[in-house]
Parts: sequence; C-alpha cells; structure tokens
Amino acid sequence: AAEKLELKERIRRLLKEKEAVLVAHYYVDPELQDLAEETGGCVSDSLEMARFGRDHPARTLVVAGVRFMGETAKILSPEKTILMPDLEATCSLDLGCPADEFAAFCDQHPDRTVVVYANTSAAVKARADWMVTSSIGLDIVKHLHEQGKKILWAPDRHLGSWIQKQTGADMLLWQGSCIVHDEFKGIELDLLKAEHPEAKVLVHPESPANVVAQADVVGSTTQLINAAQTLDATTFIVATDNGILHKMRMAAPGKHFIEAPTAGNSATCKSCAHCPWMAMNGLKNLAEVLESGANEVFVDPAIGREAVRAIDRMLDFAA
Ligand code: 13P
Ligand code: SF4
Repeated sequence: AAEKLELKERIRRLLKEKEAVLVAHYYVDPELQDLAEETGGCVSDSLEMARFGRDHPARTLVVAGVRFMGETAKILSPEKTILMPDLEATCSLDLGCPADEFAAFCDQHPDRTVVVYANTSAAVKARADWMVTSSIGLDIVKHLHEQGKKILWAPDRHLGSWIQKQTGADMLLWQGSCIVHDEFKGIELDLLKAEHPEAKVLVHPESPANVVAQADVVGSTTQLINAAQTLDATTFIVATDNGILHKMRMAAPGKHFIEAPTAGNSATCKSCAHCPWMAMNGLKNLAEVLESGANEVFVDPAIGREAVRAIDRMLDFAA
C-alpha cells in the first residue's frame, strides 16, 4: 500500500512537471482511472478519448489503454508526444485484421464504402472512408444506408451484424471478434436473468448476437455507464469488461451490478471479462514511461495523413 501511494504521488508530480495529461479507458486498472480524473485528464470510451486528446492543449498525452487508442491520438495530433505504459498492449480485433489482407478485401469490393471500427491499426484506417466507435457506429451506418451506400465493414463481426440488423444496410462483414466479449454466453445469461427478473441487462455490442438480443441497453462503455445511472432499476447484469464496474458503482451508488456469465472463470479462461491487454497498464509502468519518456507511439506520417480523414469524418459527424 505504501508503495502504491508513493507511485501515485510520483505520477501526479511527473504529470505536472512534464505538462502531460493522462487519458484512460474504463477497462484499465481503477487506480489509473481515478488518477486520470483527479489530475484533469479523462476516463472515457474510445470516441471521447480521441476527442479529448485532440482538443487538450497539453504537449504530451499518456494513453492508458490499448495500442489503437495511442495511434488514434497520434494521428489526430501528430505534433504531440504520445506515450503508453506498454506498447505491446494490443487488441484481438486489430490483430485479426492485417492491413495487407484488408487492402486485398477492399480491392475486391470497390463499390462499397469502407467503414472500420476504431479497434484497428493506422494502416487499416488509412484504407477506410470512415472510422467509427461503438458509440456512433449505428448512427453513421444508418446515415450511409439512407444515402444508398453499400458497406464493407471491419473487423468486428458481432458489432457489424448488430448494426446490420438494426439498420437493414447492405453490409459485407470481416469476421473478427473480441476475445473478451466473445466469451459471454447467451444460455447462461438467460438463466441468470431468470434468477434476477428485476435486473436490467447492459451489453457492449462486441458481444455475440444471443447476448445482445437479451439486452435492455446496447452501447459503448460510456453509454452503458449512463444507462446504469439513469435507468429506473437497482440491479444490473453487465456484459462487458469488468473494469467498467468501478465507474458504474461510482456513478450509481446503491445500485447492484452483476457480471454476465462467461464460458469459464479466471482460472480457466485468460480473457474472461477482462482484457489481457488493457490489464498491461499499471501504476508502475505508467510512472516509468513518464519519467523516461520511453514507449512513444509513432505513426508513419504518410499513413497518418490518410487515416485522419476517416477519423475526422466521424468526429465531424459526432459534433
Ligand atoms: P468503447 O468505445 O465502447 O469504450 O469500446 C472500446 C473497446 O475496446 C471495447 O472492447
Ligand atoms: Fe480489443 Fe476486446 Fe480488449 Fe476491447 S476488450 S481492447 S475489443 S480485445
């Protein structure tokens, strides 16, 4: 405990000294989330992380999250220094969508508008017409569908097919998935709901269709936290990374949150309800990168200039 206090103090001091700001995702260690908030940084979903990083005057952003979040920050602000506690923190969606294979897929379907999820590499974004996050993907695809556009979607197949069902858009889907959300199980969720008939079910759309089908609210991490706060219920079943529960409990004190069932438990399943890459962010490596300036995120400027168009389209749409 004394060591943790010392680390936190060091991080607060270094953030000030280096005029840096901490941008954290809801899935990282609760202590990093609290530090981000307390020091004038932000803790939020991927859309808000991108916007906050772009608009903040600090010259250095420390991104506590996964690789694509650091890259998005760099693409939006090439002049800023972007640091990450661990550059190896990636995402199964990003890993499952290599840029060369994705480019070949796009080449086969030149008639389609290319929409990619934020959870992709800079090179994949460079090939896209639009980048979207889970908070706004549905609205953007709806808008494109209304304009008569046919869509090529990558990489998350669950998010893609949920959007497809909601909008009726013509969508060709890349078959990627999130190893964390893929573990939530529909049958077990149904049983758990029977035990808690009063509970409302909050689901992130990276979850399988038979889990999403049972949701009262489907949304991004920020949208799920807002739902926990505003919905008239005291018990919630939550199907997303359990890192979110920290903020949910703060936002809705007195309410009760139950984790949605997964295939295994932490002894048998490495990625059950907690992202192994988000978990690579800790107080220690955060303090170290702030001290040394190591783990800087770089994006090839030519790729960045291509990728920024797809991100800006989303941010303009959201504005
Ligand atoms: P959000 O944009 O909803 O925060 O999601 C990011 C993510 O990686 C979910 O697994
Ligand atoms: Fe990627 Fe899933 Fe981890 Fe989110 S939770 S960063 S989608 S692997």
